[in-house]
Amino acid sequence: MPHFLDLATATPAGLRAILDDAHARKKARQGWPKGRIDAGAPLDGHVLGMIFEKPSTRTRFSFDMGARQLGATTIVSTAGEMQLGRGETISDTARVLSRMVDALMLRTNRHEKLEQLAEHATVPVINGLTDLTHPCQVMADIMTFEERTGRPVTGSTWAYVGDGNNMTNSLIEASSLLKFDLRVGVPRGLEPDSGVMATACARGGCIDLVHNAKAAVDGADVVVTDTWVSMGQADSKDKLTVCAPFQVNDALMAAAAPGALFLHCLPAHRGDEVTDAVMDGPQSAVWDEAENRLHVQKSILLWCLGRL
Ligand code: CP
Ligand code: NVA
Repeated sequence: MPHFLDLATATPAGLRAILDDAHARKKARQGWPKGRIDAGAPLDGHVLGMIFEKPSTRTRFSFDMGARQLGATTIVSTAGEMQLGRGETISDTARVLSRMVDALMLRTNRHEKLEQLAEHATVPVINGLTDLTHPCQVMADIMTFEERTGRPVTGSTWAYVGDGNNMTNSLIEASSLLKFDLRVGVPRGLEPDSGVMATACARGGCIDLVHNAKAAVDGADVVVTDTWVSMGQADSKDKLTVCAPFQVNDALMAAAAPGALFLHCLPAHRGDEVTDAVMDGPQSAVWDEAENRLHVQKSILLWCLGRL
């Protein structure tokens, strides 16, 4: 079953096919009304079911619009509105929903729940963010880099600074598969997942882990950050204090390559992990990045349903 659970379980060729399709589909519908269906309505008659255990703006709207643009429809629910919220098992939910929809997307607090859903579903399952990874977002980030620079991601140099979290883990997986250099600059004690790092390194991934923001960003083509407190994490003053030296501001951007891009998956906490000047400045590609969730996830859906 072609699930889209993590970049680590994908192949470079599969990821490349998704990116190429996303670039082409986006170009083909330039100037169109957003609700118009793509030529050929490739997923006509299909239904995507989406389950959210956590809040979402971009993931929810982009998957819903993406499905519509492919000719498909969606059913969206929070876990709390389902029997899942009253203790029905993930495995039973997977079996039932597989009889009713053609693909499932889950945003969950625990990565194991995504794995259980995929194990018991007989339709493709897509990761819409877990505590461990956020692969759809990183695919949108890569698409944005390629679109803005006109260069393939392979061979470029990326820096991630801030809290070592689900975004960091998916970037690490992507860098080892698509062969770009990644420097991760995080405070001590907030490192990304050690298992994800080990898998990427075993695959020959070129990932430098440092505890200094300037060292991470030095000469990089892209600077990425994310919230210092992810959904489901305790908000602590101490964490904000240790993360403060990793704020992306003009001084830090000046250490990157001239014209380096700034990316943030959003939502941003302006004044914490990024300043207004960088978010709204000429190097920021965050709005394209948000839009590209829509385009790249259409291609992920098509890949899952055997249309790529
Ligand atoms: N970046 C992202 O996944 O945003 P949402 O939480 O709004 O879906
Ligand atoms: N790391 C963030 C990403 C939000 C899209 C979180 O998990 O809350």
